[in-house]
Amino acid sequence: MNRFDNSNQNLVRALEYIPLGAQTFSKSQMAFPKGAAPLFIKRGQGCIVTDADDNEYIDFVNGLLAISLGYCDPCVDQAVMKQMQSGVSFSLSHPIEIDVAEKICELIPCAEQVRFAKNGSDATSAAIRLARAYTNKEHIAVCGYHGWQDWYIGSTSRNLGVPASTQALTHTFEYNNLESLEQLLKSHDIAAVIMEPMNIAYPEKGYLKGVKSLCEQYQAVLIFDETITGFRFDLGGAQSLFGVSPDLATFGKGIANGFPISVVCGKKEIMALMNDIFFSGTFAGETLSLAATYATIEKIQRNQVTQHLSQLGSLLTDKLNKIIIDNDIQDWVYTSGHPSWSFIHIANQGKYSAIQLRSLFIQEMAKRGILINASHNLSYAHKEKHIQTLLKAYSEVLPILANCVAKQNLEELFSGEPLQSVFKVR
Ligand SMILES: Cc1ncc(COP(=O)(O)O)c(C=O)c1O
Repeated sequence: MNRFDNSNQNLVRALEYIPLGAQTFSKSQMAFPKGAAPLFIKRGQGCIVTDADDNEYIDFVNGLLAISLGYCDPCVDQAVMKQMQSGVSFSLSHPIEIDVAEKICELIPCAEQVRFAKNGSDATSAAIRLARAYTNKEHIAVCGYHGWQDWYIGSTSRNLGVPASTQALTHTFEYNNLESLEQLLKSHDIAAVIMEPMNIAYPEKGYLKGVKSLCEQYQAVLIFDETITGFRFDLGGAQSLFGVSPDLATFGKGIANGFPISVVCGKKEIMALMNDIFFSGTFAGETLSLAATYATIEKIQRNQVTQHLSQLGSLLTDKLNKIIIDNDIQDWVYTSGHPSWSFIHIANQGKYSAIQLRSLFIQEMAKRGILINASHNLSYAHKEKHIQTLLKAYSEVLPILANCVAKQNLEELFSGEPLQSVFKVR
C-alpha cells in the first residue's frame, strides 16, 4: 500500500479523459512528482488540506495563491451562501457589481473605474487591448508571467500554437534594469509595458518610478499585473506599498479567497475605451464571486491580513535563512521575494539538476505533512504554529538534500517520477 495510491489511481483515470490529467501544469505531475507527492486534494479547511488518500498537509501552495484567508473561510462562505439564495447569474447587471467596484476604487490608488472577469489572463488581456486601443500602437513589453493568452505566452518557450506574427509583437525586458526597457521603447512602438511590480526581487530604489517616467516619455500605458501582489503585499497592492501608481492594474487570485474572479481597473480616460473595444463575459458579473470578493476584501481590511502575512513571512524567512546557512548550502539553496510570497530556490548542484533536487525536496516535505512547491504562499489561516512546523520540516529536509549531493545518492532516496520543466519566467 503506497501513501499515494488513490492519487495515482485518480491520475490514471484523469489521463484517460483529461489531457495532462489536470487543468494547469502547476497542479499536474509536472509540478508534483508522481509517487512521491499527492496529486489530488479532496478538501481543505483553514490551511490544512486532505489528499485523495486521506493524508493531511499544511498547504503552502494555497490553490496557486487563490486562497488568501484560508479554505472555507466562514465570513466569505456565509456571504456566498446568502447571495446564492437570491440567484447567481442574471439577465441584467446586479448592484453588487457597483459595491465591489466602489470598494476597489476606494482602496487601489490607480483605480478610477473597474471591470470584472474570471481569470487573471482575461484581465491582463483586456488591459493590453485597452492599451493598444488607447495608443494606437501594437507592440508590448512584458516582465513576469501574465497568463495563457497568445499575446503573452508567445513570448515564452511554450509558444506552440501561437502565430509568429503575434509572437513578434511581444518583447521581454529585465526587472530592475531600466536600460533593458528603454532599449525596447526606443526600438519598437510600444503600446503597453506590463509587469509584475515585484516577484522574486524587490524593486531597486527608484526603479518603478523610472519605469513610469519611461512610459510617460515614450507614451506607453503602464500596467501593473497585481494578480498575485494585490491585496497581499498591501491593502492597496504593490502600487501602494512602493508608492508608484500605474495607468492600469489587474487583480485576481486571492481577491475572492478561491472564488473565480479577476479585475482590470485604472484611469477613467483609458478605461472609458471599454465602450469601444470588445471585452465581454457571460459570467463576468456572476454574483457569488462578487459577494466573495466583497467579503474577502472587507476581512483583509478588518483583520489587517496583509500585516499578518508580512509578519509571519518575515519570521519564516529569517529562520529559514539561518537553517540554510547552518547547513552551509547557501550557494545553491536560497530564499527571495516578499515575506507574504517568498521563494525557496534550489539550483543545480554537483551532478544533480535543480529539478531533480526539487523533486526530492517536495517528496521529503510531503512526508512531513507539508505541501509545497517553490514558494511559501501564505494565507491568513497560517499561524505561527504552522510556520514552526514548516521550519522543523526544513531543518530535517535540507540536511537530506545536502547529504544526497555529497553522497551522490539521489536515485536511492527519491521514489517518484521526477518533475518536468514547463518554462521559467521568475
Ligand atoms: C502575475 C500573474 N498574472 C496573470 C496570471 C494569470 O492568471 P490566471 O491563471 O488566473 O489566468 C497569473 C497566474 O499565475 C499570474 O501569476
